[in-house]
Amino acid sequence: MHCLSFALLASALLTLLLPSSARAQYDELEYVEIIDPAVREKLEEWRDRKLGFMVHWGTYSQMGWCESWGLCSEDVDWLSPPQPSYQAYYDRYVGLKRSFDPRGFDPEAWAAMASAAGMRYFVFTTKHHDGFTMFDTKQTDYRITDPGCPFHDHPQADVTRHLFDAFRAREFMIGAYFSKPDWHVPWYWSPHWQHGTRNVNYRPRAHPEIWEKFTEFTYRQLEELCTGYGPLDILWFDGAWVNPDNRDQDIRMDRIAAMARREQPGILMVDRWVGGPYENYRTPEQKIPAKPLDEPWETCMPMAGAWSWNANDTYKPTRDLVHMLVDVVAKGGNLLLNAGADGDGGFHPDALVRMRELGEWMAVNGEAIYGTRPVAPFKQGEICFTRRRDTGDVYAIHLPSEGNSLPEQVVIEGLRPADGEVVRLLGGAEPLNWEPAGDGCRILLPASLRNSPPCAHAWSFRLGRLNS
Ligand code: GLC
Repeated sequence: MHCLSFALLASALLTLLLPSSARAQYDELEYVEIIDPAVREKLEEWRDRKLGFMVHWGTYSQMGWCESWGLCSEDVDWLSPPQPSYQAYYDRYVGLKRSFDPRGFDPEAWAAMASAAGMRYFVFTTKHHDGFTMFDTKQTDYRITDPGCPFHDHPQADVTRHLFDAFRAREFMIGAYFSKPDWHVPWYWSPHWQHGTRNVNYRPRAHPEIWEKFTEFTYRQLEELCTGYGPLDILWFDGAWVNPDNRDQDIRMDRIAAMARREQPGILMVDRWVGGPYENYRTPEQKIPAKPLDEPWETCMPMAGAWSWNANDTYKPTRDLVHMLVDVVAKGGNLLLNAGADGDGGFHPDALVRMRELGEWMAVNGEAIYGTRPVAPFKQGEICFTRRRDTGDVYAIHLPSEGNSLPEQVVIEGLRPADGEVVRLLGGAEPLNWEPAGDGCRILLPASLRNSPPCAHAWSFRLGRLNS
């Protein structure tokens, strides 16, 4: 069996993987300001939401394998060669369609869990690089609704539809993760040539008729998603190496965007790591920028080590997830937290615990997170700052370096509440005493509060308006 270390390594180390074609750094990529008012509005709404839920789910989930990457036999150190041979692995992987039957699938339960965790948008792998579609495409039979897949007769076999409906019912914004590369269709990895790397295995310029079929196929699938799955907010494109500057892999993103925006006015296009007009926000992967970015952005992060489900994966502690969220938000970003679903449609018990605990924290501190924008100095030692877009109130969120007890006092440099402002700890009943200290302030915490803090991991103080 494919070993865990492969699955985990492959997924976790993808962060180190910069496709030769993708430009090195998002800050070197062109960002094009959005003119379309509907897109601008959606982008601001998306920025207000802060915390999203990403799910990787596919036939690979039955085995606890890494999503797709075993199919690509690049000789790189984060991918070990499949055992016993590439061909045997390939055949087995593609054959997983014949056993995929996630009878435990419960889209309402997914949405309820994510909502309780304080998440407010959802990004789902409608198709990963392996090309298996988790929606009812008419363009290929390598899909969950094909009679060759045992799940096809389930009333919710078109899982993308039922997930989008369930999350929309809970007022999530809806994002379709869609892989531009497709390692199944014969127009990307053509049977006329061997394939090895993640890239197209022929020269599109030398064989434009094959590439045109691929372009059309991609367009049609996206058209299906944009016309048959209700209101969508985000097209989240993965596979940055498919771009016109890399071996002429031009899938005509302009045409895709025109269709998408005709069908879904204002939809956000996230052509990751490509830059230009169709990368409406940046998506640093498994890392948080050191400073606020000038552009809208989102860190995508697996709660575990891997993107895809694996029974033996290790989940990050809730405290780390909370601290990441605060760090990201203070720098003006969103956090898209991923969990892999398993072969039955459920989640790892540790994912459930993380989501519940995250929800407990958000229930107390959401006021300092949602609808905020960054405010200088963003971060100061263990304290992060946010400012609400609606009220203008400023919050200081204290991230203790260790332990879970509130300090006797919190000192903030350079920021001071306006005279007469009442400072509160979110979740605490009483106003707090504070006093000027240097060019900032000192907030004093009574023993009663320190003995029973309203939450664990991090504490938010509402400073109100500032003394300017
Ligand atoms: C990387 C990987 C892909 C994963 C994605 C999630 O780009 O290629 O497997 O789906 O990260 O952000």
